[in-house]
Amino acid sequence: MATAKPIVIFDSGVGGLSIHQEIKKCLPGLPVVYCADFQGFPYGPKAEIDVIERTSACLNRLAEEYDPALAVIACNTASTISLPRVREELDFPVVGVVPAIKTASERSKNRCIGLLATPGTIVRSYTDQLINEFAGDCQVIRVGSSELVIMAEQYLRGETVNEQTLKEILSPFLAHENASDTIVLGCTHFPILSEQLRKIAPDVEWIDSGAAIARRVSSLLSVPDSSATVADKFVYTGESHHVKALLPSLHQMGFEEITSLQTVTKQLAT
Ligand code: DGL
Repeated sequence: MATAKPIVIFDSGVGGLSIHQEIKKCLPGLPVVYCADFQGFPYGPKAEIDVIERTSACLNRLAEEYDPALAVIACNTASTISLPRVREELDFPVVGVVPAIKTASERSKNRCIGLLATPGTIVRSYTDQLINEFAGDCQVIRVGSSELVIMAEQYLRGETVNEQTLKEILSPFLAHENASDTIVLGCTHFPILSEQLRKIAPDVEWIDSGAAIARRVSSLLSVPDSSATVADKFVYTGESHHVKALLPSLHQMGFEEITSLQTVTKQLAT
């Protein structure tokens, strides 16, 4: 599909920026509208139906406003439950991000894998299916952490990461007798802290879905003049105070226009 239309990348917060960065490495000329549903953040502890409703409302509104060529739900918590609904509603391809269990199983030598995700993602039946299908012979340790999601949000707002808290979050993977040699970052917020995570467990192979999603998007679109970088838009639901401290990070990542997605904010607030 040849396109000059933008793509939409959607997440509850800034986590999907880890996917945005990978997509821009492959396709710098592709215009992106990134949407953070700050009003609904965090998705991890929310009831499934609430996550599905928010994801659907935001994507439908983004479709109306920006006429995208494709959308990426850059959120494991939402993708594992919302894809059938939004694919039925929207008339363009929707790419989901789900935990890279298959890749981890291919790489693990000691057959002990860690899954670090949100409290929602670790208990999804979709996650059970992935583990049964691709890692049936592995021991899979699941850790759900909303605290780590919040730490990634704070880090992009210029706050420092507490190493001790990170160590505590990772301890179930590392303290184990047969410690995980491979850990899946099953939440798009976590690659934002990959430097800090690698420092704590340098021998672990850390797996995220970013590069695979970028390849999938490239295979679905053909982008004219992909060598010239274009500026992207960042839109958000909720109050503007959520973005103030984020502005330096957003500018550094190539976002020039930063605005509120008004209608959705009002609709979902009622
Ligand atoms: N970034 C999200 C994910 O990939 C969700 C974080 C949250 O809102 O809890 O799962």
